[in-house]
Amino acid sequence: MSGFSFPILPTGHLLGIEGLEPPHINALLDLAESYALLNRQGKTQRDLLKGRTLINLFFEDSTRTRTSFELAGKRLGADIVNMSVSTSSVNKGETLLDTAATLNAMKTDLLVVRHPQSGAPSLLAQKVDAAVINAGDGTHEHPTQALLDALTIRRHKGALSDLVVAICGDVLHSRVARSNIHLLSAMGARLRVVGPPTLIPAECARLGVQVFHDMRAGLADADVVMMLRLQKERMTCGLVPSSREYFRFFGLDAAKLEVAKPDAIVMHPGPMNRGVEIDSAVADDPARSVIGEQVEMGVAVRMAVLDVLSRRLRRNA
Ligand code: NCD
Repeated sequence: MSGFSFPILPTGHLLGIEGLEPPHINALLDLAESYALLNRQGKTQRDLLKGRTLINLFFEDSTRTRTSFELAGKRLGADIVNMSVSTSSVNKGETLLDTAATLNAMKTDLLVVRHPQSGAPSLLAQKVDAAVINAGDGTHEHPTQALLDALTIRRHKGALSDLVVAICGDVLHSRVARSNIHLLSAMGARLRVVGPPTLIPAECARLGVQVFHDMRAGLADADVVMMLRLQKERMTCGLVPSSREYFRFFGLDAAKLEVAKPDAIVMHPGPMNRGVEIDSAVADDPARSVIGEQVEMGVAVRMAVLDVLSRRLRRNA
């Protein structure tokens, strides 16, 4: 968006929330807010990325992240190429570097990467000329998800500081949780994680996050209840007894939500396992659930990120 001054991001890439300062986060959220408004008015800015190429390079499944990067790029006028790569043939570092060489030869401007291995986008960023955006790497980070979550919270609660945010469920395997912990603690929120001991990583306590193993204790007076998907595909051994048992103790239903603040909002990054980590009645309750708005804000946040990272290209043009 023209006329919007922006503090320079520490790198020309968005590899994680860790390393960003509150002024970067606030500026990205403000810019995203203006794109959210534009989207609601049905307006686009197709000149901004005209002639630029964005490649979506996804080594893992994705519905909303890949689609919203595509929509975001299109609304800003970029040419988009979607590459889905089967993980079986590309889990060796060497192959990833070959891919990087190929992408470089194709003169890509923006590269959106999702990969099952933590650190893969950062390795690519060292090897390609394009600006790299991490769309989720292993259990490490998912920065645009944390930004869209923060924007959604800010729209409902006004500010992020001093809010009690309970992140619940499979924290151990969640890059969404990790990015949210970095972002929300940088912005002064009071963070809690809630889940069975087998799914809470030891680093939570070191990061200054309060740890709970009981939903009612963890949700008491919370402003925001953020549910996470049980990521069975990342579990190498049985970390939870059964889905039914898990839902009984850690699934969010109306009874457990009752102890949170009366105006607490309920979030989930999707895809949801209904009846496992969240009850449909809560997920679909328009008075509490902001899950649909999270998806809407995903497009706006990704437009803001593409806008900011392409400023360097626009200056050099
Ligand atoms: C998340 C992801 O892929 O990390 N989904 C998403 O991007 N919306 C969370 C998940 O897969 O559970």
